Amino acid sequence: MHTSSQLVAVFRFRAGPLRGEIRVAGDKSISHRALMFGALARGRSRVELPNRGADVLATRDAIVALGAKVGDGGEAILVNGGNLHDPSATIDAQNSGTTTRLLLGLCAGKGITARFDGDASLRRRPMERVARPLRALGASIETTVGCLPVTVRGITSPSGGEFALELPSAQIKSAILLANIDATGPVRITGDRFSRDHTERMLRHFGRTIEFDGRTIELTPGKLTPQRVRVPADLSGAAFFIVAAATTHGSDLTLREVGVNPTRTGFLDAMRAMNADITLENARDLDGEPVADLRVRYRPLRAVTIDGEIVVRGIDEIPVLAVAAAHATGTTSIRDAAELRTKESDRVAAIATVLRACGVEIVEREDGFDVTGGGARTPQTTLPVFDDHRIAMSVAALAAPTGAHAIDDVGCIAISFPEFVALWERAQGS
Ligand code: S3P
Repeated sequence: MHTSSQLVAVFRFRAGPLRGEIRVAGDKSISHRALMFGALARGRSRVELPNRGADVLATRDAIVALGAKVGDGGEAILVNGGNLHDPSATIDAQNSGTTTRLLLGLCAGKGITARFDGDASLRRRPMERVARPLRALGASIETTVGCLPVTVRGITSPSGGEFALELPSAQIKSAILLANIDATGPVRITGDRFSRDHTERMLRHFGRTIEFDGRTIELTPGKLTPQRVRVPADLSGAAFFIVAAATTHGSDLTLREVGVNPTRTGFLDAMRAMNADITLENARDLDGEPVADLRVRYRPLRAVTIDGEIVVRGIDEIPVLAVAAAHATGTTSIRDAAELRTKESDRVAAIATVLRACGVEIVEREDGFDVTGGGARTPQTTLPVFDDHRIAMSVAALAAPTGAHAIDDVGCIAISFPEFVALWERAQGS
């Protein structure tokens, strides 16, 4: 489903190397959190170079509905927070799982009553996984057969305590942390397996005492102080450029200021294991998040097996990793990735459909797939992208070393990366 401002249109990506230096869109996960923390902290926060995709704008509009004052101009979003209240209408999270799940947590611990809804894709995605721990905290959460629409009736000053994660999901973990912002006692979360830790880092950046090691989190009661947050470039957006440059002769591309948080770099580890030539330069800290410039050059790839914790640390990059595998020597196996079936589309089925239409041998499994490299050719038909931004951008990477590929919907890319096509064409020198 699209908002009226998005364009549903056929688009053709062309072949050719990627060269030069670019900064991709701001990190989507960090942008959502920076806006939410700005809404929670009393005073003025400043979010610089945020992601401007429809998902993050859904969060921006939602925090306004919840009482935050937002000034959005130029390169930064200013948020005046600390005085939240019930929204007067249903919050439309559009296509965004992060908006829905994290804000359900925020409302649950702030005594807020709110109803959330979203587009057809979001309405299919599971919400009981967040509802259960929020009920354990004392909030009332009514789902619609486990999905949206969902109504939350929050409590104030929860007591804290211990929570065990049923899945290593950053969205569930973050919902619990946001619900416990005003907890009167310590909060302990167990059962994580290196899901992205941006919420934990941002709590620290906003002045809170928190310990975390990829498995257990301990949050001490305290207050948030407003902050400036400089948002790194999104490794998930960079991944499409990295795969295209790594697989296309003549490529030499530098991606500036990309987030390289270790809970997000499963994709880089997998690409390196496949023999990709990726160097990290100028590594530094940006407001609590590690960033670096990534230089990528073409080099032949070989197959690998990817499973376990590396999948959690790179779940959103698995579709484009399948594209890399299509250009590697041998058969790459992905396992432990059943979560991919619960994303904006069933990403296992979607990438299998796309690769098969391009002549690539791929065997679907319940929790992943096997891709044999070497068979990719220019497709005879327009490829379906299942209304999924990451599938659409994966096709751009597939086209770079192969030949022109047309997709049935370029508009959905605006969910996470509105400037994608312009940057892609710049890197391809057109
Ligand atoms: C996200 C967490 C991941 C990821 C999603 C963004 C986040 O989802 O796939 O794109 O910002 O917390 P899960 O928490 O469901 O694994």
